[in-house]
Amino acid sequence: MKNIIQLTEKNIEIDSEIETLRDDALAFGSVLGHTPTFHVTTFGCQMNARDSEKLRGTLISAGFMESDDEDADVVIYNTCTVRENANLKVYGRLGVLNGYKKKNPNMKICLCGCMMQESDEAEKIRKSYPFVDLIFGTHNVNNFPVLMHRILSGEKHVKEILEENKASNEGLPVERKYSFKEGINIMYGCDNFCSYCIVPYVRGREISRDPKDILREIETLVNDGVIEIMLLGQNVNSYGKKFPEGSSVSGGEMNFVDLLREIEKIDGLKRIRFMTSHPKDLSDELIDEIAASNKICHHIHLPLQSGSTKVLKEMNRHYTKESYLALASKIRERIPDISLTTDIMVGFPGETEDDFLDTMDVVEKVRFDSAFTFIYSMRTGTPAAKRDDQIPEEVVKDRFSRLLKKVQDIGTEQTKKLECKVMPVLVEEKNEREENLLTGRLSNNAVVHLHGSEDLIGKIVPVHLDKAMNFYYFGEIV
Ligand code: 5AD
Ligand code: SF4
Repeated sequence: MKNIIQLTEKNIEIDSEIETLRDDALAFGSVLGHTPTFHVTTFGCQMNARDSEKLRGTLISAGFMESDDEDADVVIYNTCTVRENANLKVYGRLGVLNGYKKKNPNMKICLCGCMMQESDEAEKIRKSYPFVDLIFGTHNVNNFPVLMHRILSGEKHVKEILEENKASNEGLPVERKYSFKEGINIMYGCDNFCSYCIVPYVRGREISRDPKDILREIETLVNDGVIEIMLLGQNVNSYGKKFPEGSSVSGGEMNFVDLLREIEKIDGLKRIRFMTSHPKDLSDELIDEIAASNKICHHIHLPLQSGSTKVLKEMNRHYTKESYLALASKIRERIPDISLTTDIMVGFPGETEDDFLDTMDVVEKVRFDSAFTFIYSMRTGTPAAKRDDQIPEEVVKDRFSRLLKKVQDIGTEQTKKLECKVMPVLVEEKNEREENLLTGRLSNNAVVHLHGSEDLIGKIVPVHLDKAMNFYYFGEIV
């Protein structure tokens, strides 16, 4: 229970809802004959991970016990829909959950997250998967205690999906995965409408959180032992364009760099990260701020998507091959030890071999420290899905493997650059595979494995990077 804190000002309504849920948990426990257990499975990005912490915090506060596996009394799938594979994974696993429910008929199965914001998917689940008890959307997370109360009171097939983002997913208790680092939403939604992307349709219009709320939340976390924060948003560089009604500032009065400057003043906070940055909005002011700051980590995740100016235009990305290259070299010049990482997609409709070679060219020129590579996935409702020049699978697969090899070769060379240097590492956890190893991260986000005792977890220590592997290091504390 030690990591549970109320992050925002005392929300009396939520408190009383959790109180009701506590009674429900007791009643549910007496039917089951044991304390009810739960498991939250998270698919997708950091935003979902953050929402899952709220779901877990709520259930723990109400007296449920967290279980390591999905054979639990309450199972929640927090879904993603950015690529079709993410949806297929959920459908694949629902069958397994149904098997558990046959053994434990009192079991409650809940689905939430981005996939539920797609009306066709939510309807399909309601019709074809009747064993699912609760479906709720990304804008309904704050109503989770009430929704749980409804299914525990015997209501069947509860479904609540709000279409619009009201930036009100705050106030629930949070069960933090790490005691010393945390992600914080600074904005919700996305207004960019990249032509392949479903996010603006499922996560709604972009809205920035009131800076006062963000600062208060970070201060509370820091008082509770957090030394590293990750500011989360689909496009953090456009922070401040639009605030909700009643905010302490109005749209355009404050930007991302202003917010960073305020956050940097918080005593005790040691590392600030942010993601994701859109190349079209990344300002010189931000580059200067990162260079000048001793708290902002030297890492920028700057999704490229494609290196072809023609494809970028069709993707509605608002930059060209040349402007991306110019931005990347400006960043590297001003902050020589910066790590640049990216997202790249192959097989966008109409992508020719020459377009793909432009992508390979940018990868070679920028020398990304690492990259997430994706095969384009057709998402219903997006403009790109309507195109009749989709690329054949074998062509896409061939391009994907060529890209992956290049990205890995360059990443390995980039990682080698820090070999034999001494760098500060924030020790994060015990190594999953090797018992006497710990795992941490450099400011540039690279992973380091080192020997040391568990009480170093949560501390920043100097480490000699003995050996660079592909994207990580083995090191020893000095
Ligand atoms: N197909 C493949 N990849 C996608 N992404 C977003 N939409 C799609 C899609 N339809 C990738 C982008 C984005 C990352 C989070 O997911 O590269 O930056
Ligand atoms: Fe999707 Fe583009 Fe928004 Fe990122 S910026 S979430 S890729 S629409």
